[in-house]
Amino acid sequence: MAILKIARMGHPVLRRPAEAVSDLDAPDLQRLIEDMVETMRDAEGAGLAAPQVHRSLRLIVFAVGPNRLRGEEVESDSAADAESGAGAGVPLTVLINPDYAPLDEEKDEAWEACLSIPGLAGRVPRYRHIRYWGTAPDGSTVEREAKGFHARVVQHECDHLDGVLLTQRMADMSTLIFTSEMNRFLEGEAEAQASDFRHVPESNPGDSHGESGTNAA
Ligand code: NI
Repeated sequence: MAILKIARMGHPVLRRPAEAVSDLDAPDLQRLIEDMVETMRDAEGAGLAAPQVHRSLRLIVFAVGPNRLRGEEVESDSAADAESGAGAGVPLTVLINPDYAPLDEEKDEAWEACLSIPGLAGRVPRYRHIRYWGTAPDGSTVEREAKGFHARVVQHECDHLDGVLLTQRMADMSTLIFTSEMNRFLEGEAEAQASDFRHVPESNPGDSHGESGTNAA
């Protein structure tokens, strides 16, 4: 296995739609998958899409630790969670030719980061509840429901396959910040809201608390 070079924002490979994987038995596909998993883990990312490692193919890998999802249990009902896997983490998943559809129109805004935009994070609206599907490396079909951060990672990675970066999904570019300034930014926001007597929006308990809220993908 090998750690691959990650393309950064501005590289053309991140801007063009990736091609469907047509042959699951292609000789280098398994090797590419293994290298992507190793690269994602080395970079401590939550997910990685093939265009990020200079391969314009519709292939993503992701894994979400249980710690990242713990905060979401509070606000979601446990029966649905058991079904969607929220709260227990998401095991390492490899999806070939993935796609998703929102299950309702509701979106959440939360901090997001990207291994192709190192050092930065921004608030990105994403569908809260989705169904997604794709082909596993063994040829079987994977189909799941996902909520919260799990759903967010899948949407982020699928965007990479269409040449879209998180900056293109942001509603408020003033929240594009260096992660090293995150704590200062949040303090500034809290002060602004207190002095304005503005309503302080409810924040997802899992996000906006430093680095753990901004797993890059
Ligand atoms: Ni990314």
